[in-house]
Amino acid sequence: MWFFRKKVELPKGMADLHNHIVPGIDDGARDMEESLAMLRLFQETGFSTMVATSHLDHPMFSKVQPSMICEGVEQLKQRATQEGLSIELHPGAEVYYGDGLLEKVQTPACMTLAGGSYILIEFPPLDPMPHLKQLAFELSVRGVLPVLAHPERYEILLDRPQLAKDWVHAGWVLQLDLPSLIDANGKAVRKVAQTLLRQRLYGLAASDMHHPDPPEALRDSLEALVRYVGDDEAQRLMVDNPHRIIKGKGIIDFDD
Ligand SMILES: [Fe+2]
Repeated sequence: MWFFRKKVELPKGMADLHNHIVPGIDDGARDMEESLAMLRLFQETGFSTMVATSHLDHPMFSKVQPSMICEGVEQLKQRATQEGLSIELHPGAEVYYGDGLLEKVQTPACMTLAGGSYILIEFPPLDPMPHLKQLAFELSVRGVLPVLAHPERYEILLDRPQLAKDWVHAGWVLQLDLPSLIDANGKAVRKVAQTLLRQRLYGLAASDMHHPDPPEALRDSLEALVRYVGDDEAQRLMVDNPHRIIKGKGIIDFDD
């Protein structure tokens, strides 16, 4: 007997706050055509809004400047309008943690998410990350709220997933990479992601899309999220909190 998987309904008006859609400046979209294909895919999948988060201060893409991200977003917006796409696009960055971070956030243009008060930060994969509590404090006194990119991918959480709760209590908003749910980063990473989802430690989920292939991966990973956490939690992670972050409002967290 055949069993058919029930069709999953995705939340409406989703916002993606981590992707590499700006053409030609990091390891994301290679050119404008690929960026437009990504925009189209997000719009067709039910997204209303995207914040483009090119790598910034990453050792492999050290030439990227915040102004390049803003310029790229402007060019992409113009082309999107010409193509009849209505999805909203804002500039942001995925900032690689380094010594100069606290100084750089003093001039946060084209660096914070949609120009608001949240900043998306990534760490080297093997970083022991002992300084997260202090860093959240240092950023908050400068008026910046930290979002931690894909915690499930950091080696330290594979051994000590309980650290994630300390980070949330210290003020970090944890961002799930959706592809982690469909084993794009390996089974061990998916298990950490599912542990954090069960504990409701994530504040939002995002695609971290670099290229629109395979195109079904976006929908598949969103369906995996809905199946795992249910409609209400998916709404919180894909719609409510991402839009609150864009507007600079506090997120609905795991205690609410
Ligand atoms: Fe990324």
